[in-house]
Amino acid sequence: MSSRCVSKEALVGSVALGVVFAAGYLYGKKISTRMSIFKSHSAGGKSNPLMQYVLNHSMREHPALTKLRLRTMEDPRNVMMVACEQSQFMANLAKLIKAKKALEIGVYTGYNTLSIALTLPDDGVLVACDISESYTNIGKPFWKEAEVDKKIDLRLQPALQTLDDLLSDGQAGTFDFAFIDADKVNYDNYYEKSLQLLRAGGIIAIDNVLWGGDVLNPSPDDADTVAIDKLNKKLHRDTRINLSMLTVGDGLTLAIKL
Ligand SMILES: C[S@@+](CC[C@H](N)C(=O)[O-])C[C@H]1O[C@@H](n2cnc3c(N)ncnc32)[C@H](O)[C@@H]1O
Ligand SMILES: *[C@@H]1O[C@H](CO)[C@@H](O)[C@H](O)[C@H]1NC(C)=O
Ligand SMILES: *[C@@H]1O[C@H](CO)[C@@H](O)[C@H](O)[C@H]1NC(C)=O
Repeated sequence: MSSRCVSKEALVGSVALGVVFAAGYLYGKKISTRMSIFKSHSAGGKSNPLMQYVLNHSMREHPALTKLRLRTMEDPRNVMMVACEQSQFMANLAKLIKAKKALEIGVYTGYNTLSIALTLPDDGVLVACDISESYTNIGKPFWKEAEVDKKIDLRLQPALQTLDDLLSDGQAGTFDFAFIDADKVNYDNYYEKSLQLLRAGGIIAIDNVLWGGDVLNPSPDDADTVAIDKLNKKLHRDTRINLSMLTVGDGLTLAIKL
């Protein structure tokens, strides 16, 4: 989540650089989000000055992204939004590997969807998976405003179904990049199917791998934490990938398909 990326004032001045970062990094419970590891950068506008420095000196938000972020902040579930600096990082990464085909598993209002679509070439495609029409409808006008809506193939059904559809459609080995950010209990299934859909050298980015720190002490009756911790342990041993676990946002693992 990232309500603190760029201020309204900055938007009015239409300057996306060197702006005020407000509000928090809070990840709420039961809606597949957790507090960022920058605990002091929590909800309510109390910002971590060092984090603010990072944002001040790196964020280059497209104006449509800024507008979508501010629109998302009006939604009661806005804690689910990806961290903006994490989204910018993933867009840079997708560009670096010359991604043409990408997957997003868990769209919400489509901030990261837009961010990735902006880096794809004109003939690129982002298959965006979500089950909520109301969340994704929030993002659509901003995708259109940025003129990347044609690159976004939104599929409104359980993501596992969409991944199976792509596999039975013969698209295994054709995707360059995947972002996994939906229901945590299915993370391992999303990972396995994404790995099949990826080409060698493609990257799967997995969000919330630190789960607000809960992975240190997973309670057996907390299915989300158990699923994340189990996948983290599996990935560490998985010889089909190379990996990095980054402490950005709520923890982001990059798995590079060998
Ligand atoms: C943390 S949010 C995604 C945030 C988004 N990636 C962003 O950049 O802001 C999780 C999303 O997963 C969706 N979701 C939950 N279960 C799902 C499922 N089985 N299949 C597809 N989407 C699902 C929810 O509707 C929600 O929009
Ligand atoms: C971030 O930028 C804003 C606006 O220019 C400024 O007021 C604030 O002091 C900056 N904070 C840091 C830590 O750089
Ligand atoms: C994976 O990591 C190993 C070192 O651990 C390295 O030798 C190899 O080149 C890496 N492969 C890719 C595709 O990054």
